[in-house]
Amino acid sequence: MKTSVKYAIIPVAGFGTRMLPLSKSVPKELLPLGNRPAIHYVVEEAIAAGIKHIVLVGHAQKSAIENYFDLNAELDTQLRQKGKDGLADSLNWLPEDVSISMIRQGKPLGLGHAVLAAQPIIGDSDFAVLLPDVVLNPFTTDMSQDNLAFMLNEFTASNHSQILVNEVADSDVHKYGIAKLKSFEDLNQIQPNSKASFGVAGFVEKPDLADAPSKLAVVGRYVFSNRIFDYLADTKPSVGGEIQLTDAIDALISTDGVNVTTMRGDSFDAGDMSSYMRAFIYFAEQQLNNETAAS
Ligand code: G1P
Repeated sequence: MKTSVKYAIIPVAGFGTRMLPLSKSVPKELLPLGNRPAIHYVVEEAIAAGIKHIVLVGHAQKSAIENYFDLNAELDTQLRQKGKDGLADSLNWLPEDVSISMIRQGKPLGLGHAVLAAQPIIGDSDFAVLLPDVVLNPFTTDMSQDNLAFMLNEFTASNHSQILVNEVADSDVHKYGIAKLKSFEDLNQIQPNSKASFGVAGFVEKPDLADAPSKLAVVGRYVFSNRIFDYLADTKPSVGGEIQLTDAIDALISTDGVNVTTMRGDSFDAGDMSSYMRAFIYFAEQQLNNETAAS
């Protein structure tokens, strides 16, 4: 089935304090994973799943991200004059039918507020959200079939918004939105590397382990019906004084129902220094191995 969802929001307004000093003058989304900036893989993932319009929600210090996805005319001319057409072409990899635009969040009032900031571009369409701190493993995952692509298909078939979840270690529960399942039997649907989508009772944002309703964490990939905008507009600040996307999702669950989708493959947290460094090493090793195999 072809997805009807063509828009994706990528919030990029965070200052990346966990990535200092690297993120002091370079947006954290442009820090390298192997030989590409981290956000390159997230945009590729969205495109592989069928997304055509990507909306970055940022602020004044993030315009380098927009430039990364645009043609650098001066560089392009210079490379071609030197006969480096192949290199010039490789920089312009974005498909013709894919557009990337940027809108500013204004005040940093939280993830829910950032998503709502994209409404003037998205209008009344349904849309996906990809959090760029989370990079799914592109070396082991088929992005045209799994995770976001699967969620888009499930959304198109059922009209239920979809939230990607994955089981995390006890020590990581407090870092994530955590799913509350409707019944313990749903746990049977979550086999390693299964593709499952089923209704969820709610979410708790960053609970203490003792209060957590499960260990299924929100991974950072969402597909929403446009109605989430109505709920976001009514959402008041909560955890951390921020307008939380999780609260708007709970409101959507109460009227429309929302499904969780289980993640296939693995993911990296590129917004945390030690996970980022491990991810960098993994990406670099994979790419060096591929280069060696190709030569
Ligand atoms: C956000 C969400 C959280 C989710 C997490 C995934 O939190 O609020 O529900 O689990 O992303 O990375 P943040 O990491 O922005 O604090």
